[in-house]
Amino acid sequence: MTLQELKLHFFTELNEQYPATEIESFFFWLTQSELNISRLEMALNPQKKVDIQHVENFKKAILKLKNFEPIQYIVGDTEFYGGVFQVNPSVLIPRPETEELVAWMVEDLNNKKEIFRILDIGTGSGCISISLAKALPKAKISAIDISAEALQTAKENAKNNEVNVEFFQQDILETEKLDTTFEVIVSNPPYVRELEKKMMQENVLKYEPELALFVSDENPLIFYKKIAELAFEALEEKGVLYLEINEYLAQETQELLKEIGFLYIEIKNDIFEKPRMIKASL
Ligand SMILES: C[S@@+](CC[C@H](N)C(=O)[O-])C[C@H]1O[C@@H](n2cnc3c(N)ncnc32)[C@H](O)[C@@H]1O
Repeated sequence: MTLQELKLHFFTELNEQYPATEIESFFFWLTQSELNISRLEMALNPQKKVDIQHVENFKKAILKLKNFEPIQYIVGDTEFYGGVFQVNPSVLIPRPETEELVAWMVEDLNNKKEIFRILDIGTGSGCISISLAKALPKAKISAIDISAEALQTAKENAKNNEVNVEFFQQDILETEKLDTTFEVIVSNPPYVRELEKKMMQENVLKYEPELALFVSDENPLIFYKKIAELAFEALEEKGVLYLEINEYLAQETQELLKEIGFLYIEIKNDIFEKPRMIKASL
């Protein structure tokens, strides 16, 4: 089969389930990872032969896509803040809004002249902690997660991205006090309410880890309360807490932080003008 024929087959198989732009993007994602062929090469050499094993792998990927498996889990990695991160169903696929949170932190913290400590709570793939470690050479970074499988992936990602992050398995909801103090604490904890499930796409619901996403409708800020209380005690003077937040609960999260004692609170919108990040300091 030629590349052009493979592309036609790929589009024909998936066009009932996905818009053409998305199929195109899946196709290039797979040609890059499976065949190591760039978009340009594809355009220049559509008659290039694809061997049978690779065609078989494309067919397997088509079946997975028909079952709405996310393309990032199919190819096994994704890009985040300029780095490549391995992903699998034990970790959430890093989202663009989280890149915005990292960008905000880097902008605030990159002129620090002395060593400072950052803690990332609920690190998942390690995308936040590892990206910060790459961008902020003065930062000494620790990260925790409840999931041993997620931590395994995060450790691999730190190695592949050539940075040092200390990872610990810890249940933050069962933590009475953090072991040490920090200049910066960051978290993108679970925050999707059960009632918001019906607005979510099948690929997220079926494949991404529940543990990383959902909280009860009755107590949706459970992680924010615990993290803010721990941070209030563990942050150094002038320390800062950064959080990704549920866009529907921005005001409630702000109130909670005020009640706990944070004095300066800033909510930041993402590129879609939705309130998705908060910064709080003492
Ligand atoms: C929304 S995901 C964020 C993952 C990653 N930081 C990111 O931004 O893509 C939340 C993470 O919190 C972890 N988590 C859930 N419950 C936890 C708990 N009780 N203690 C520590 N981590 C927890 C999950 O395993 C998951 O990796």
